Amino acid sequence: MPEKSAESFYKSESRYRTLVENSCDIIFSLDLEGCFTFISPAWKTVLGHDPDDVLGHNYREFIHAGDIPRCEAEIALALQNNRAHEVTYRIRHVDCGWRWHTSRGTLHRDDDGVLTIIGTAYDITERLRIEELMAQTGKMIMASGLAAGMAHEINNPLGAIMQHAQNIERRVSQDIAANLKTAAEVGVSLDLVRAYLEQRGILAFIGHIRSAGIRASEIISQMLYFTRRGETGTVKADMTTVLEGVVGLAENDYDMKKKYGFRSIEIVREYAAAPLFATIALQEMEQALLNILKNAAQAIADVTTQWTPRITLRTKAHEGTVILEIEDNGCGMDETTHQRIFEPFFTTKEVGAGTGLGLSVAYAIITKGHHGLIEVRSKPGEGSCFTITLPVQGRCDE
Ligand SMILES: Nc1ncnc2c1ncn2[C@@H]1O[C@H](COP(=O)(O)OP(=O)(O)O)[C@@H](O)[C@H]1O
Ligand SMILES: [Mg+2]
Repeated sequence: MPEKSAESFYKSESRYRTLVENSCDIIFSLDLEGCFTFISPAWKTVLGHDPDDVLGHNYREFIHAGDIPRCEAEIALALQNNRAHEVTYRIRHVDCGWRWHTSRGTLHRDDDGVLTIIGTAYDITERLRIEELMAQTGKMIMASGLAAGMAHEINNPLGAIMQHAQNIERRVSQDIAANLKTAAEVGVSLDLVRAYLEQRGILAFIGHIRSAGIRASEIISQMLYFTRRGETGTVKADMTTVLEGVVGLAENDYDMKKKYGFRSIEIVREYAAAPLFATIALQEMEQALLNILKNAAQAIADVTTQWTPRITLRTKAHEGTVILEIEDNGCGMDETTHQRIFEPFFTTKEVGAGTGLGLSVAYAIITKGHHGLIEVRSKPGEGSCFTITLPVQGRCDE
């Protein structure tokens, strides 16, 4: 080879090497059996395995069993029709479980006539997570909009029911002169009328109407949180102080103390050293955090084994956001529950213990009200961890 062209060959070879070795996507080649014949260094960065340990191994060894048939079918079709393949699958990371990847590849025949599949693969796990969150947010905003609309509609008739139940009680009271006067005019004794109402349980029925009405109006006032905007104004607050304030509210909440033994739960605080300011609607944010804390205490109360009941609270700053975590070592949740917890009225608790509104309200306040994110990690028997990410300029009263 003449000297000049040898030099330019080496330059071009070095350029290609630099491209392949520094690509963020994985570049690979497979023989027709599916065994790796080349793998770029990105494999180590993305999946943690040494590329040398992968060479010669079949791609099926790394892919989730449920996704292998899809990969095989797509590659077979691409080979058959001599076209590029594109397939999405889960691949094992050395220590963080499955990652979603998309591969694109083409068929290549080298100078010796040997066919190989050459392709790239890139990690789409984070993109899928965000897409799922966005879809969830859309679904929740629609559901919570409907719920808030219903709440407005039910509020007036409910007010009338409560008001008239109270009027009936007042109109048979001996303490009101007008009642005694009307009874005398029509020739009945108010004492006897009351005795009759009591003996037939009518006064008790009216009491039940009132207490059921009070419960319904508590639910309605939670539902109205779905659309509440800017009513309470916004403040710039240190989120660690806000979280501590909510712990104080929980400590003094009757149900939390008596039913769920909140005071006997160990609270571990892993707070940022410096204040973490965010612009928030304080009362709404407190409501959201209290709902999450209440669930944590309930989940702990549901566990009967002997261990130290514990809630860990964390605050930290991360790239222009404030992150809050509320982690409990309670009963945790299964996959079906996990998928549905933010839906309005979804509950696994008995009537009286839960309305299914706590997390949907928290969701609306955090996502719609503050442009934040709320996520949960949980497994049955392994507790739950709620992570809230708030932009520093959180609340937007548009
Ligand atoms: N920390 C937690 N641990 C386990 N399950 C939880 C936790 N938080 C919420 N859940 C599940 O989510 C469901 C919905 O919660 P929520 O909206 O607050 O309604 P409620 O508490 O009234 O049932 C609960 O019924 C429960 O199954
Ligand atoms: Mg709840």
